[in-house]
Amino acid sequence: MYLLYTIVASLFTFFILKWLKKRRFCTDLKRLDGKTVLITGGSSGIGKETAVALAMRGARVVIACRDVENAEKAVREIKFKSHSLNVLYMELDLANMSCIREFCKRFLQKEKRLDILVNNAGMPSVLDWTDDGFSMCFGVNHLGHFLLTNLLLPCLKESAPSRVITLTCSNYKYQRLNFQDLNYNLVPFFTYCRSKLANIYFSQELARITEGKGLTTYVVHPGFVQSGWICHFSFLFRMLMQVIMWMFFVPCELGAQTVVYCAVSDEAAQHSGGYFVDCRPATLRPFARDSGVAKKLWEASERLVKLV
Ligand SMILES: NC(=O)c1ccc[n+]([C@@H]2O[C@H](COP(=O)([O-])OP(=O)(O)OC[C@H]3O[C@@H](n4cnc5c(N)ncnc54)[C@H](OP(=O)(O)O)[C@@H]3O)[C@@H](O)[C@H]2O)c1
Repeated sequence: MYLLYTIVASLFTFFILKWLKKRRFCTDLKRLDGKTVLITGGSSGIGKETAVALAMRGARVVIACRDVENAEKAVREIKFKSHSLNVLYMELDLANMSCIREFCKRFLQKEKRLDILVNNAGMPSVLDWTDDGFSMCFGVNHLGHFLLTNLLLPCLKESAPSRVITLTCSNYKYQRLNFQDLNYNLVPFFTYCRSKLANIYFSQELARITEGKGLTTYVVHPGFVQSGWICHFSFLFRMLMQVIMWMFFVPCELGAQTVVYCAVSDEAAQHSGGYFVDCRPATLRPFARDSGVAKKLWEASERLVKLV
C-alpha cells in the first residue's frame, strides 16, 4: 500500500510539474516586418529561440556570436524553423572591449536601423577573467552589454520607437553590489548574481536617461530554462543538472516567451525600465529599485569601459 501511495504521489508531482512547464506563451501576435533585431548569444539556448520567434514575425534578425561555426549552424536552423531567409550572424566577443567597438562599427556600416536590441548572451557562474581584466560574469554579462548598448544608442534612437531587452535572473536577489569591488570574483554563484543585479540597474538607468526619446527598456527573468549553460561545468555537475533540468526547468522555446512579449507588446511598453517574468510585469526587491545605485553603477561602468 505504501508503495502504491508513493507511486501515485510521484506521478501526481510529475504531471503538476509538466503542467507548470506549459505556463505562459506570448499571446500578442504583432508582426515585425521591416524591423531589425540584434540578439547577442543568439546561437544557442534562449537567444536562438528568441531569434526563431522574431524571424517568424517578419523581423530581420542578426545574431551576434563569438563562435563562427556555431553561428553558421544556428543561422541555418533559425532560417529552417522560422521559414525566413532574413537571418544572419555577425562575430562578437563580449569579453573583449575592442572587439565590441569593432563589431559596432561593422554593424552600423551594414545595417540601416536597429529596432530591438536583445542583450541575451550570458556567462553562468564561472571564475575567469576577460581579455580586459574584468571578472568574466561582470565583464560579459554587464560591461560588455553596457558598452554595446551605448555604442548602438544613436542608431536605436534614430529607429525609434525602439526597445532594449536585457536578460537577468531572479537570483539577483542573493547579492548586493560592492562598489569597492565591482570585479568581485570569489564565489562563482555570487559573481553571477551580482552581474544579473547589474543588468537590472543598467536597464532602469537606461530607461531614465532615454525617457521621452522613443526608446523603452525591459529586463527579463526567462524562468529556469533547459539551455546550454551547464556545458561550462564539470561532468558530474552536468549529469546532476540534466536530471534537475528535465524535471523542473522549462524548454528554451518557453524561456524565450517573455523576451518576445517585451519585443512586441504595447502593454509592456507602458512599463519602460520594468522587470518582466512570465509575460507580465513583476516586482523587484526594493534594493534592486534604488535609482541612486543604478546611476552610480552607470557612471562607474562608463569609466571602466572608457566611454568617458
Ligand atoms: N537558462 C536559465 O535557466 C536562465 C535563467 C535566468 C537567466 N538566464 C539568462 O538568459 C540568458 C541566455 O542564457 P541561456 O540560458 O540561453 O544560456 P546559453 O545557452 O549558455 O546561451 C548563452 C549564450 O551567450 C553566449 N556567450 C557567452 N559568452 C559570450 C561572449 N563572451 N561573447 C558573445 N557571446 C557569449 C554563448 O555563446 P557560446 O555558445 O559561444 O558559449 C551562448 O550563445 C543569459 O543572460 C542568462 O544569464 C538563463
